[in-house]
Amino acid sequence: MEQFDLVFAKTNRIILRRFNHNDTKSFYLYRSNPEIAKFQSWENYQYHDAENFVNEQMKHNPNQPGTWFQFAIALSENNQLIGDCALHTLLIEPRIVEIGFTLSPSHQGKGYATEAVRALLDYLFFTLKKHKIIAFSDVRNNRSIAVLERLGMRREGHLLQNYMSKGQWVDEYQYSILKSEWENNERKNDNE
Ligand SMILES: CC(C)(COP(=O)(O)OP(=O)(O)OC[C@H]1O[C@@H](n2cnc3c(N)ncnc32)[C@H](O)[C@@H]1OP(=O)(O)O)[C@@H](O)C(=O)NCCC(=O)NCCS
Repeated sequence: MEQFDLVFAKTNRIILRRFNHNDTKSFYLYRSNPEIAKFQSWENYQYHDAENFVNEQMKHNPNQPGTWFQFAIALSENNQLIGDCALHTLLIEPRIVEIGFTLSPSHQGKGYATEAVRALLDYLFFTLKKHKIIAFSDVRNNRSIAVLERLGMRREGHLLQNYMSKGQWVDEYQYSILKSEWENNERKNDNE
């Protein structure tokens, strides 16, 4: 299978790259943390789940309709894994994609998630030529909502009891941004 580049996007502080075996331990440590899983579907995450996850991600490429791809977020200075960004390319309309993101607790509160998702949006709109990007957030997940709103994503819907999390139906907000909106926002930022 043709392999995409190892590094998909860069900023001054971080890179978005493919996962590799050296990431497994760090990935397991934050994924298995109950605080990280609080607003996510998984619970009781095991080391072998992390090993399977990394093995699978190493085989796949982004931008395949009907699949999820996970980008590793790593520090530019030492390549250390600090989190991940997910990309779901919709099967029926692959010009519309869904994203998600997670940061290890020790790297939160430093702007890395916002920086990583900004780089991801640039990559998706300008390299992969996507039309619209959406994200779902549990309505109680204030830190996730803050990241999405900082990037200028619009709250497009309040979806009642939209997913089952830890035995309970949970409401979600759907956030979105069009390519035209992203270009306008970027232009405004450049002029400031
Ligand atoms: C959602 C999540 C990634 C947000 O992480 P976060 O650390 O709050 O977000 P950022 O990395 O963008 O950091 C923003 C904070 O860093 C601060 N900051 C510090 N230094 C900064 C810098 N140099 N540049 C920018 N911001 C900086 C900002 O002021 C902001 O602080 P505030 O929250 O007090 O306003 C994290 O909470 C997480 O992993 N949660 C679990 C997984 C999850 O629920 N994901 C969402 C599913 S879609």
